[in-house]
Amino acid sequence: MNIDVLKKIAKQMVDHSKGILAIDESHGTCKKRFDALNIPVNEENRRFYRDMLVSAESLDQYISGAILFDETIRQKTSDGSLFPQFLESIGILPGIKVDCGAKPFSCHRDEKITEGLDNLSQRMEEYRKLGAKFAKWRAVITIGDKIPSNACMIANSHALARYASICQEFDIVPIVEPEVLMDGKHDIKRCFEVTNQMQNILFESLDMLDVTFSGIVLKPNMVTAGSSCNDQATPDEIAELTVECLKNNVPKEVPGIAFLSGGQSDQDASNNLNNINKINTNPWKITFSYGRALQLEAMKKWSGNNKNVEDAQKIISRRAYLNSLAASGKYEISMEKV
Ligand code: 13P
Repeated sequence: MNIDVLKKIAKQMVDHSKGILAIDESHGTCKKRFDALNIPVNEENRRFYRDMLVSAESLDQYISGAILFDETIRQKTSDGSLFPQFLESIGILPGIKVDCGAKPFSCHRDEKITEGLDNLSQRMEEYRKLGAKFAKWRAVITIGDKIPSNACMIANSHALARYASICQEFDIVPIVEPEVLMDGKHDIKRCFEVTNQMQNILFESLDMLDVTFSGIVLKPNMVTAGSSCNDQATPDEIAELTVECLKNNVPKEVPGIAFLSGGQSDQDASNNLNNINKINTNPWKITFSYGRALQLEAMKKWSGNNKNVEDAQKIISRRAYLNSLAASGKYEISMEKV
């Protein structure tokens, strides 16, 4: 492990108000999104679509890294280079999703445990050779009747810590993602309680396994009311409770926090990130690592029709630009109209 290398990569991931583009959807998730738009699901369309996104003009000004899927890291962009080499050539760090998905958690109905630790060292070695500079592992916590259990939060935190330790051994920066899902009727207070507890257990686990905090990036959910809650929180409440949760749990050595969008609308994801940055007085950089809130409008515009490529690329560039403004507290909702 070379701590200077890890620190340098982690800093680059969250610096200069740039954020991370998540294009690491599993085949299942990608199929769901393509099916909804009648886009034929096949390897070439997945390659073409992701190539279109990463070659959008000026993307490198707003995006520091792109998270790839196992299939994508082995594919080529239209200029003939492998995705990692293309990304490096435009100044974007290549990353790789390494978890094998959230599976049913034994003896705990309706809860999930993320798998993928088996042979992770061997896979990490290969991904490093393919050019990955950082990785991602997502744990999923569901809020519901009597859940999450402590067991679910402890098991997922332990897996995240084991993963992070393996990444650091290979000089790959781990994105540590404890996602408390927005699904449900719970109010924002309940989301705060669970997110706070999960982050608490997570940082204890990372510490117990000697993970170096200055060589990770945290990818949490924002603290919001559940998507089916009748009493939706205001942007000010969201920003306040989200920052409070981070302040309670995230060590100062962590260089940056890159939020997931989790099903928020594009505008909410930008506006909430902006408000969080406006009130944050903590030392970490706070930016985005969005999947849906960066891509979905561009995917809709493309819809499998290559005549729409340029327009779709303009959409993703603009979304990345707006989120980059939000990462420095300079975004305004009125900018959406242009
Ligand atoms: P969303 O921004 O769509 O939540 O996806 C981010 C991500 O990478 C989830 O692991």
